[in-house]
Amino acid sequence: MSTDPVRFVTACRVCGSERWQQVVSFGKVPLANGFLDADGSHEDEEAYPLEVISCRTCRLLSLTAVVDPQVLYRTYSYVTSGSETMARHLRTVVRLCGKRVDLAGGGLVVELGSNTGDQLLAFRAAGARILGVDPARNLAAIAVDRGVPTLPEYFDSATARAVADEHGKAALILGRHVFAHIDDVADVLAGVRELLAEDGLFTIEVPYAVDLVEQLAFDTIYHEHLSYFLISTLDALFARHGLRTVDVERLPVHGGSVLVSAAPAEGPWRTHDRVRALIEQERAAGYLDDAVYDAFAARVRTTCTDLSRLVRGLVADGHRIAAYGASAKGTTLLNICGLGRTELEFCTDTTPQKQGRLTPGTRIPVVAPEDVTRPPDHYLLLAWNYAEEILRKESAFLEGGGRFIIPVPEPTVRGEAVVSR
Ligand code: TYD
Ligand code: ZN
Repeated sequence: MSTDPVRFVTACRVCGSERWQQVVSFGKVPLANGFLDADGSHEDEEAYPLEVISCRTCRLLSLTAVVDPQVLYRTYSYVTSGSETMARHLRTVVRLCGKRVDLAGGGLVVELGSNTGDQLLAFRAAGARILGVDPARNLAAIAVDRGVPTLPEYFDSATARAVADEHGKAALILGRHVFAHIDDVADVLAGVRELLAEDGLFTIEVPYAVDLVEQLAFDTIYHEHLSYFLISTLDALFARHGLRTVDVERLPVHGGSVLVSAAPAEGPWRTHDRVRALIEQERAAGYLDDAVYDAFAARVRTTCTDLSRLVRGLVADGHRIAAYGASAKGTTLLNICGLGRTELEFCTDTTPQKQGRLTPGTRIPVVAPEDVTRPPDHYLLLAWNYAEEILRKESAFLEGGGRFIIPVPEPTVRGEAVVSR
């Protein structure tokens, strides 16, 4: 018997309300990291509804369709990028957490969705004891080989209890770009309460809903991202589970993210003024009302039309175009803007797990940068979150007359190399 791989959301995962505003619907889209083997075994590629709704009670932005995590994550081709931008960011996270938690004293840092262990290695370098939890067995195995102890499990209340029994309470529980992937947030937060020391911190990094709307980063909408959070929404969620938001920082990664820390409600932490200020700013800017989300949907439609027109126009004028960076975002962008092999010759990407495969839905061959023999006239930058680093790296391409098309917030063509600092 096969079980249905999709659950449709009825009650809000944060507040339980069923009063929803429809925001955008992109139709059926394949899984963003579902890269296909090039041997023809992809004929049965599945696509799932991709639409966003907003809770009129707590203003959680949520997908309507929750794809079974077994389908999404058991083998996972996403690996934390080894880029210099990301390496710098991982060190920033250690520095920001280290200001609050005593890492050098050997406190336990548990990371959810620890991937291949890069972030935890940076914590160990600062003196912490480390433990990863990641359900993707292929990635957990790589982390273990690199010396990062990793449980190949989902983090839930049962896992949390087992970890606390074996390793003691955690000084820091960290989840970078993982919390928005979780459907049963209540059980995860129950686990956090089990495992977290009374003076410990639960720190998550999530895409910020305000940046999603302002930067028009609509391509970061894909099936893995079930939730898009305001600070107001997270604050309400934490409060329901005995936690209190104590600090928040805005960060320029993945198109705009926030690093939010919460602590046991009755614990010793004081709430930073930034938290109340940002919550007030969200209210004042209209994020608790429908209009902002309706306007967002209209701007998404315009950008999609403009991008398809720009790319098709260039192709019609005889230009050769390829994609740069087989990001998960790229899957959404290409599929919903209707760009594929007719327009894009290939897609270059540095990730070995993606090379030699085909992009989901659009089936564009992914090639290693060193295997590109004839660079195109234009690259469509699907990894626009690394625009600065990539334009600096590709100065030879740019000096030779090559151009980058940056798709969001509105399509722009960039020709100048970024001067190295
Ligand atoms: P990533 O930023 O990890 O985002 P997403 O969450 O949307 O997948 O994706 C960036 C992709 O771009 C990743 O597959 C690596 C690739 N990439 C390059 O090919 N060259 C580069 O110089 C950089 C920085 C990334
Ligand atoms: Zn809600």
